[in-house]
Amino acid sequence: MANFLTAIILAAGEGTRMNSKFPKVLHFVAGEPMIDYALQNAEVLKPQKIYVVVGARSEEVIRHIGKRAVPVVQKERLGTGHAVQQVVPYLKNLKGDVVILYGDACLTRSQTVQALRQFHGVQDGEAALLSAEVENPFGYGRIVRAEGGTVEKIVEEKDASEDERAVHEVNAGLYIFKASLLVEALKKLKANNAKKEYYLTDTIHYIINKGGKVHALLVSDASEVLGVNDREQLAQAHRVLNLRRISEHQREGVTFLNPETVEIGAEVAIGQDTIVESNVHLLGETVIGESCRIESGSRLQSARLGKGVIIRSSRVSESQLGDDSDAGPNAHIRGGSVLDKKVHVGTNAELKNAHIATGSKVGHFSYVGDAQLGKDVNVGAGCVFANYDGKNKHQSTIGDKVFLGSNSTLVAPVIIGKGAVVGAGSVVTKNVAPGVTVIGVPAQVFRKKK
Ligand SMILES: CC(C)(COP(=O)(O)OP(=O)(O)OC[C@H]1O[C@@H](n2cnc3c(N)ncnc32)[C@H](O)[C@@H]1OP(=O)(O)O)[C@@H](O)C(=O)NCCC(=O)NCCS
Repeated sequence: MANFLTAIILAAGEGTRMNSKFPKVLHFVAGEPMIDYALQNAEVLKPQKIYVVVGARSEEVIRHIGKRAVPVVQKERLGTGHAVQQVVPYLKNLKGDVVILYGDACLTRSQTVQALRQFHGVQDGEAALLSAEVENPFGYGRIVRAEGGTVEKIVEEKDASEDERAVHEVNAGLYIFKASLLVEALKKLKANNAKKEYYLTDTIHYIINKGGKVHALLVSDASEVLGVNDREQLAQAHRVLNLRRISEHQREGVTFLNPETVEIGAEVAIGQDTIVESNVHLLGETVIGESCRIESGSRLQSARLGKGVIIRSSRVSESQLGDDSDAGPNAHIRGGSVLDKKVHVGTNAELKNAHIATGSKVGHFSYVGDAQLGKDVNVGAGCVFANYDGKNKHQSTIGDKVFLGSNSTLVAPVIIGKGAVVGAGSVVTKNVAPGVTVIGVPAQVFRKKK
């Protein structure tokens, strides 16, 4: 059964250097908990089962992985080999292969994991591992290759000779083994080292000593092997992933004025010739159309923008802006707001659960909440939709071409008919008929439709 595959993710490390109350693998990197990257990399291989080895105090990790994998608790922390040994009793048959991934290896690409599996299949050795050439190999296990190019041994920093320390090819910590041989090697593991731990790399040595072949696949992008052990590495991993995503968008024709400062989620889509300025966060399921401009400091969370939209240093969350609309500076559009085409939202305006039809303008310092606005409505500066009575939220409906004067307050629920005018500073407490002008506090009819 050549295709039988089991995946094991090692996620029991306490991450002491993270100095955190939370398990290391639940820390977020570029919008997702670290372990999710490992789970995705395992899932892409379509294994029959995925086991995640977790530490003794990892209820949160177990909860997080849910049905995606089977948790296996490593009660004592006795090394990577010991961690894999914990899974052995779960392996019902020893057919096929076992792939082993690290729970903090969030920078390894899925394509690389797939390539390693393919490589293992083609080389037909007993095991294969991923390696990388790094500039500073200090602290990594060095890959020493035999004459034919197979792995001769993996030497840890403290055991390395001067020649071995000069080797820049390092062990990435991603392995694939023939299952039967892995289990055999695990049984023979000894903790005869300074730390009294069982090392997974010793299974590689066991296989080689037995005459088996272990091949190493050298990955071209060394950033794929970076693990995360402290907050500095967390930040580094975060940045690497962001820049990878940005490169993809750049290839699709998006301009980033200062890519190093942009945060971008994995699900974000951006149209051609859109310009993203500095310090912009594009998160969740944000979709941006062509030729938009996202000015510095903006934060878009699951926002949908049409073509030619300009966002000036503003926040948009769970809301839509149609073609040629613009917002800000410092606008806040949220709560499922939907703006049709050519809608203008001014400085410091806030919109919540508002539907605004084409050509309408919401002026500066205004608040429009729980409202339906028709076409070509003008919301004057400082208008407030008083949608909350202390207990419940109420809806306002504003007809086409309504003109709301500055600093007017609409006490919801209220309906303002098509073409009506509300004088500056009015407090509207009753419905206004179409074409009527109202003024005052409370607003009274000032002029009826001509
Ligand atoms: C209500 C409004 C449309 C009336 O305009 P108008 O027909 O030209 O009226 P007038 O300026 O001739 O004023 C008529 C009377 O109403 C009074 N009045 C006008 N607007 C008023 C208002 N908002 N509240 C109370 N009284 C008002 C005037 O003081 C005047 O009183 P008077 O006869 O005792 O002197 C206008 O005054 C208004 O409030 N426009 C809103 C402008 C605005 O806020 N734009 C938004 C920019 S962001």
